[in-house]
Amino acid sequence: MDHFSFVNGSLHAEGVSLASIASSVETPCFVYSTATLQDHIRKIQSAFADLDPLICFSVKCCPNLSILSLVAAEGCGMDVVSPGELQRALAAGVPPARIAYAGVGKSHAALTEAISMGVGCLNVESAEELELIARISTDLRTPVSLALRVNPDVDAGTHRHTTTGIRTTKFGVSSARAMELFDSMRDHPFARIEGVHLHIGSPVLKAERYGEALDVTLRLIEHLAHRGHTIRTLDLGGGFGADYQSGQSPTPSDYASVIVPRLQPLKKQGMKFILEPGRCIAANAGVLLLRVVRIKREAGKTFVICDAGMNALLRPSHYDAFHFMWPVRPPSQQIPLRRTAEPEFANLTRCDVVGPLCETGDYLALDRMLPAMQDGDLLAVFTAGAYGMSMASRYNAQPLPAEVLVRGNSASLVRRRESLTDLISHEMHATPVSA
Ligand code: LLP
Repeated sequence: MDHFSFVNGSLHAEGVSLASIASSVETPCFVYSTATLQDHIRKIQSAFADLDPLICFSVKCCPNLSILSLVAAEGCGMDVVSPGELQRALAAGVPPARIAYAGVGKSHAALTEAISMGVGCLNVESAEELELIARISTDLRTPVSLALRVNPDVDAGTHRHTTTGIRTTKFGVSSARAMELFDSMRDHPFARIEGVHLHIGSPVLKAERYGEALDVTLRLIEHLAHRGHTIRTLDLGGGFGADYQSGQSPTPSDYASVIVPRLQPLKKQGMKFILEPGRCIAANAGVLLLRVVRIKREAGKTFVICDAGMNALLRPSHYDAFHFMWPVRPPSQQIPLRRTAEPEFANLTRCDVVGPLCETGDYLALDRMLPAMQDGDLLAVFTAGAYGMSMASRYNAQPLPAEVLVRGNSASLVRRRESLTDLISHEMHATPVSA
């Protein structure tokens, strides 16, 4: 599953002990494993080999430049949703032709930039955006290859904040609208809709949901073909799950067994495929390393107060997400073999694991059974490599955490911890605003 394991009673990332990283980089800090990232990418490549898809890593889940460079070196393209993410993908050495650009709110400037540089696939979210793209590409006299995002109206069965394939969410257009839009652009000299884009949510823990969404999409593609439209690309989006608990998520092969047979006939006809995985590559490739600041016992409860909470990892409080966590150096008889909500050890204590921020919502786990801990102990929060640092905030004037990338027996700082001076640097000089 990943390369975080206990060696001689102490948690390691590959060959490096997390305690040694904490003593040189301090906490809070995200620690990533190179071997895990590579292993996850290779598993997806092999599971989907029959479709030979372009695997566009979803930058939003883990946008650190060193991670993106590593992912690009494995042959991946990138899925981006903003000029900032585009800049990161390019800086990581990904050519524009291997970039899929999505997002419901791309500005005029963002679209102009994407069209001018020739991104491989510009995903269109609405009739209104299509109209703007048609205008910009005409003004620039630059052809652009578009994929229309279709909303299949399938419930991905995930948290309401991350379900995107239901008709009433802000994403994509209905099949009926898609047909109108394909027809309306049939003879456009520059803006060519050549693809269909799909993304039903994240994480999608039932592989069959992809089957349902694809069945709707394949019917649409067939109708479009009858009307004389050729679909060259099908972008399936992301959403594959990760093991927040051991064995919880389908594997890439499980997803592939639902997806690949449905698409093989189209592959034979020359269709190209894009996948946009993020979480299933990065989530278990990263842990958040924290230090316990204080153990507070009050009102019959034990609060493990750490040096970061929702500011470093928003997922527990924002999505009620479960993240397994465990002391970096637990008592010898309490080395967990599985990551589970109910570890079966004697002498565990029921705790709320919280951060230092001034909100009751600032927690990482509630009512969690953990080994006894003391002030100064290190705690590792697992499966934090995706949507951890990328959603971190500076709330309560907390500097953003450091990021460390481990490869074998060596660890590199790939983002330094912010300093208190960094926090005020944008506000030090007031400048007049010209009217
Ligand atoms: N493609 C599109 C169009 C997306 O909107 C997303 C994620 C992905 C690909 C990548 O999905 P993944 O393979 O990582 O599941 N912050 C939330 C997740 C939001 C996902 C947003 N879109 C979380 O922490 O669970």
